[in-house]
Amino acid sequence: KSFFTPISGGSPPSPTKRPTKITVVGVGNVGMAIAQTILTQDLADELALVDAKEDKLRGEMLDLQHAAAFLPRTKIQASVDYAATANSDLCIVTAGARQNPGESRLNLLQRNVALFRHIVPPLAEHSPDCIIMVVSNPVDVLTYVAWRLSGFPANRVIGSGTNLDSSRFRFLIADHLDVNAQDVQAYIVGEHGDSSVALWSSISVGGVPLLSSLERQQIAYEKETLKSIHKEVVQSAYEVIRLKGYTSWAIGYSAASLARTLLRDQRRIHPVSVLAKGLYGIDGGEVFLSLPAQLGRNGVLGVTNLHLTDEEAQQLRTSARTIMEVQSQLGI
Ligand code: NAI
Ligand code: LAC
Repeated sequence: KSFFTPISGGSPPSPTKRPTKITVVGVGNVGMAIAQTILTQDLADELALVDAKEDKLRGEMLDLQHAAAFLPRTKIQASVDYAATANSDLCIVTAGARQNPGESRLNLLQRNVALFRHIVPPLAEHSPDCIIMVVSNPVDVLTYVAWRLSGFPANRVIGSGTNLDSSRFRFLIADHLDVNAQDVQAYIVGEHGDSSVALWSSISVGGVPLLSSLERQQIAYEKETLKSIHKEVVQSAYEVIRLKGYTSWAIGYSAASLARTLLRDQRRIHPVSVLAKGLYGIDGGEVFLSLPAQLGRNGVLGVTNLHLTDEEAQQLRTSARTIMEVQSQLGI
């Protein structure tokens, strides 16, 4: 006998909308930080976990399922078989080698491209209408690789890009000014890596443009402070990796904020890795790098028309060249 008795005169349950499903590929430090944030923030009805290590997969699935009493109801499954990812709305790829202390993200390319050749085609086959979000590094080149291997339109393939760098930038500026990071608007664009570009003109605090405010107050030294803050952003990952061996919590929240904007059609603007060819004088090839983009249920809805200074535009093109030079070795 079931636990429940239907009320008299009730109608049979109507077919509910198709469940929102997220797949996370790679259940390492980053994949699990993302998975647990998705659960905590109630971003999906179903969560599929995929990895190459079967025991690790099952262990992580059971460990998350055991938290069910404290979380919104989410169906969690895990498998080495990509059939478990079928009909996903969003596939987040975190599988791959990570940097050793002092190692650059670009140095991971060959190892992780080889993995992507086995990961991306089955994801695309089982979820032909999904959005792919790449996190694995080097994220910009691997987003290009995922775009090519999936055959998806560019609006449905993004990289987490400098959404994380911009969060670090906003934290450091907020800490310096003793304000809440959520009241600091600031973008870092370009490569998620050593050649990222700080858009000084984009910084505003509580709606007050920072640079013009500093100029009005003749506070010149602050520009040097801002430059050192950007340097600290570029060094952030190296420092955290030196100290704890990897980064995970900030990227977990960064990827979840993107998942929410995408799946709940929030139409918010995030600096994420998008196909930048033809924008801001970036030519010479198809390259993905981060630009402030409006995101919604159909992926990238549009890229913001920024008013870049000549220096910022030049730095962005340099960042694009850095990525294209590495990408050209791939032959994809
Ligand atoms: P990890 O070593 O903890 O996890 C990697 C996982 O990938 C492992 O569980 C491994 O079994 C799995 N894997 C390996 N080959 C696979 C395959 N063929 N199919 C499915 N799964 C496979 O590494 P961690 O710390 O989670 O980092 C993962 C990636 O994320 C690295 O490339 C790292 O650089 C990147 N990352 C990117 C960030 C960003 O802001 N874009 C931030 C932090 C990390
Ligand atoms: C980071 C590296 C790991 O920014 O991509 O955390």
